Amino acid sequence: MADMTFRNATIIDGSGDPGRPADVAITGDRISHVGEAPAGEIDVDATGLVLSPGFVDTHSHDDGAFIRYPGMEFKLAQGVTTVVSGNCGFSSAPARPGGGPPAGGALVGQADWTDLNGYFAACELRKPAINNIMLVGHNTVRALAMGNERREPTDAELTDMRSLVREAMEQGACGFSTGLIYEPGRYSKTPEVTELAKEASPFGGIYATHMRNEGDHLLDAVEETLGIGRDSGCPVHISHHKSAGRRNWGRIGESLARVDRAVANGQSVTLDIYPYTAGSGPMFQYFNLDDISIELAEAIRIAACPDHRDWEGRMLKDIAAAEGISLEDAVRGATTGPRGKETICIQFTIAEDDIVTNLRHPLVMVGSDGIPNLNGSPHPRLFGTFPRILARYVREQGVLSLEDAVHRMTQMSCDRFGIANRGLIAEGYIAGLVLFDPATVEDLATYDDPKLEPAGISKVIVSGRVAFDAGIHTGAGAGRMLRFREAG
Ligand code: CU
Ligand code: ZN
Repeated sequence: MADMTFRNATIIDGSGDPGRPADVAITGDRISHVGEAPAGEIDVDATGLVLSPGFVDTHSHDDGAFIRYPGMEFKLAQGVTTVVSGNCGFSSAPARPGGGPPAGGALVGQADWTDLNGYFAACELRKPAINNIMLVGHNTVRALAMGNERREPTDAELTDMRSLVREAMEQGACGFSTGLIYEPGRYSKTPEVTELAKEASPFGGIYATHMRNEGDHLLDAVEETLGIGRDSGCPVHISHHKSAGRRNWGRIGESLARVDRAVANGQSVTLDIYPYTAGSGPMFQYFNLDDISIELAEAIRIAACPDHRDWEGRMLKDIAAAEGISLEDAVRGATTGPRGKETICIQFTIAEDDIVTNLRHPLVMVGSDGIPNLNGSPHPRLFGTFPRILARYVREQGVLSLEDAVHRMTQMSCDRFGIANRGLIAEGYIAGLVLFDPATVEDLATYDDPKLEPAGISKVIVSGRVAFDAGIHTGAGAGRMLRFREAG
């Protein structure tokens, strides 16, 4: 007898193959039967529903969330069973105990560990709901080695950074990430990044990057990224691929053409996107206060602002009008107060057509880029990304087939990030599963009401345990800390 058996579901197994009827049984933490299955301790009649592997959020900032919100409700309710953390150059490890978060670290939080092993142990103590695999971040190691210095590293500092990256890789990080628009990473030159990526490549780790520019100089940034991949020997992953700013809309095709050319020349390149026309991040990072971009300021909505809680959820231009101040003063007001660096903004800078162009490209995966600051009014991508792909771009617009979308969100992502033994419905694989209704699955989170959990997700299984059941978070706490290419 199995522990749980799903009857009459359509199985979309993650490989991209057409859905098919089959029974699936779970025994312990594994998928024990696919096709014919014995009776289960629990028998689930899944008529009309799709059973697929749990989704992988390839681009998360959930490092700190595993500590603060181990229930991970905002991801679990979407059918996400594994996240890749440590993106955009910001990772929770390595760290200096008692030290504050690195620059821009509203994304990260306080640490009482020093390395990846210590961070994972701290997460495990809290019995998280979902799995976590981590990239080691450039901004983090740079801040540890040389603070916020606006210069190239000395040889000793570079050696420091290299050993921090190597140690994280030895402990199971899946690669090295950068956020080259952010402090302090933006003060680095290309060779520094290449040297650090070289520490990840002997392990097979990837180079994941929030590129130096995603607007007017997007193509230069793509070239820099591809060069770092070639010179370091790392497979490249471009994070949240976009062409930001109205005058740059449509240029995503040129950027993808550069990627295609590199792939044709033998380079390994993949990308991810979130399915929204707005980005989000720490606001101070986006503005030069000596030369404030009005175009950007006009596109901004405040997500979180500890110094002005009443500004949260409002467009900056409306705030400026209501307060009788200039847009420039509103930018200063949001970013220069006592807790100004914690302000998170949402910026409407992306074209809908570019999202579709990205999704049609076969190397593009899905990553929420959600910022798990549950105060204020976060970007709805934190709660809605994966159901939004299934509702809007599969069911409503037919941009992707359901099988293709599931493949990108499961097996393809697991392969890329070294998530072993997951991402496929096959005997012997770890049972991370999501049961959903393809006719009703839908994101409900909006900019005005961003914390609504999606509709149409029936059950989510993590490591063989029911973690989410018809809207209820069961508290199973079966998530695991995953090490690169290690089964477990
Ligand atoms: Cu990010
Ligand atoms: Zn980023």
